Amino acid sequence: MSISATKRDELLAAAREAQKHAYAPYSKFYVGAAILTADGKTFTGCNVENASYGLTICAERNAIFAAVAAANATPQGKIKLVAVAVVNAQNVPCSPCGACRQVIAEFGRDAVVYYQGESGITEATVKELLPDGFIL
Ligand code: THU
Repeated sequence: MSISATKRDELLAAAREAQKHAYAPYSKFYVGAAILTADGKTFTGCNVENASYGLTICAERNAIFAAVAAANATPQGKIKLVAVAVVNAQNVPCSPCGACRQVIAEFGRDAVVYYQGESGITEATVKELLPDGFIL
């Protein structure tokens, strides 16, 4: 499924809105994500940190898990992701972390990911970001 430039920009704008809600008092690195599902719905997430640092969850996974919780997907819980947009408040290069790549791949093996690169927004497929990812 190809994503129009308009849809890409809408996703990036939704990610930017979510980023404003990020809870990141420890890293001060505020991240927002927006995902597009195959049925045309958008879900957003932001990073939420914790005093016990390892409990932190990234913006991308928060958005994906919100989509699973909201969807009445068939088979059970299996939403289909077509695109993911990620932004951060500092606009520094920040592609999705390894854990988020694995979660993106779980729901969208052909998903397109937009994220802050060296010079603006970069586009990559999840296969490029996670070649030979784990599949059960
Ligand atoms: N973070 C994300 O939300 N997404 C990423 O793809 C990379 C990192 C968050 C986690 C943590 O709250 C902060 O950025 C610094 O690692």
